[in-house]
Amino acid sequence: MDDPIVVAEGLHKNFGDTRALRGLDLAVPAGTVCGVLGPNGAGKTTAVRILATLADPDAGHARIAGHDVVAEADRVRALIGLAGQYAAVDEKLTGRGNLRLFGRLSHLSRRDAHRRADELLERFGLMEAADRRAGGYSGGMRRRLDLITCLILRPRVLFLDEPTTGLDPRSRGEIWDAIRELVTDGTTVLLTTQYLDEADRLADDIVVIDHGRAIATGTPDELKATIGDRLDVVLEDAALLGGAASVLAGLAGAEPVPDPESGSLSVPLARGGIRLADVVRELDRAGVAAADVGLRRPTLDEVFLRLTGRPAEDDPAPDQSVETAPAKETV
Ligand SMILES: Nc1ncnc2c1ncn2[C@@H]1O[C@H](COP(=O)(O)OP(=O)(O)OP(=O)(O)O)[C@@H](O)[C@H]1O
Ligand SMILES: [Mg+2]
Repeated sequence: MDDPIVVAEGLHKNFGDTRALRGLDLAVPAGTVCGVLGPNGAGKTTAVRILATLADPDAGHARIAGHDVVAEADRVRALIGLAGQYAAVDEKLTGRGNLRLFGRLSHLSRRDAHRRADELLERFGLMEAADRRAGGYSGGMRRRLDLITCLILRPRVLFLDEPTTGLDPRSRGEIWDAIRELVTDGTTVLLTTQYLDEADRLADDIVVIDHGRAIATGTPDELKATIGDRLDVVLEDAALLGGAASVLAGLAGAEPVPDPESGSLSVPLARGGIRLADVVRELDRAGVAAADVGLRRPTLDEVFLRLTGRPAEDDPAPDQSVETAPAKETV
């Protein structure tokens, strides 16, 4: 197998008394999307800044395509693009103007800068807005412009720090499409996010970080498998929750969590699971009518809660005027 294109080994970084990174390890295979998932203050931006040569680690090493991010920072910069946590577009320029300026600053000829700007505007759906000032763009368009600005020089590795935080669901979807489009070109993407559904949809591999170190690594399915399936039962009569709970506890060998409001119960299943027919029969025998019985894979939210002991997004930090809660999904 090829060596991973992004490697971090034992990264440490302190800011005064704050230990932002405490031995972070990462390895991202070329051509894949790695989702770095963690709550506010977990160390995501610090990690990205080190990988992108903007900060030096206090200890540990990182390499991009084999080049050390400290000793060979110039080589690394030629291989990467970075869209920071807050979109950095010039509001006084048009979308096209922003791209051309960046192209020129990156030493492209005038002709090449213009050509590349138009290519990117076309491909990522901003051509219609190309001649409008970026200051009038929506939060989602600004983010997309910021992202494609990083593509001018065709980076092999793209770092995206919370690319959709604070965006409405439609704009998030547009950014996701743009990221998928990039990956088809073979670009390796490392994105940070506080949104579990984002990591779930985009990432080949997820690294969950908390307090500056990786606490779990795997594909979305592998992470979900660590906590097993759940059995959900909705009752016709919520008054029978108690009876249903003891039946389910007996079958599953775990304590069901009742929700009196919806008249439903949910119970984690041990490996090997349970037969739905047995559940229905036992409930029936106890005189409890079920409106719905189903098996459900855990969501990444549940995985996160289990790993960190607290929910994700406990303190979302919107950076745009439009803020909508991300759509939660049962997987
Ligand atoms: N320049 C700095 N000076 C002092 N403390 C810092 C600095 N940068 C980061 N920190 C601290 O280091 C820790 C990790 O911060 P970091 O920005 O990497 O977290 P994050 O995971 O990106 O969080 P968020 O989701 O809020 O963006 C936090 O406690 C933060 O306050
Ligand atoms: Mg951050």
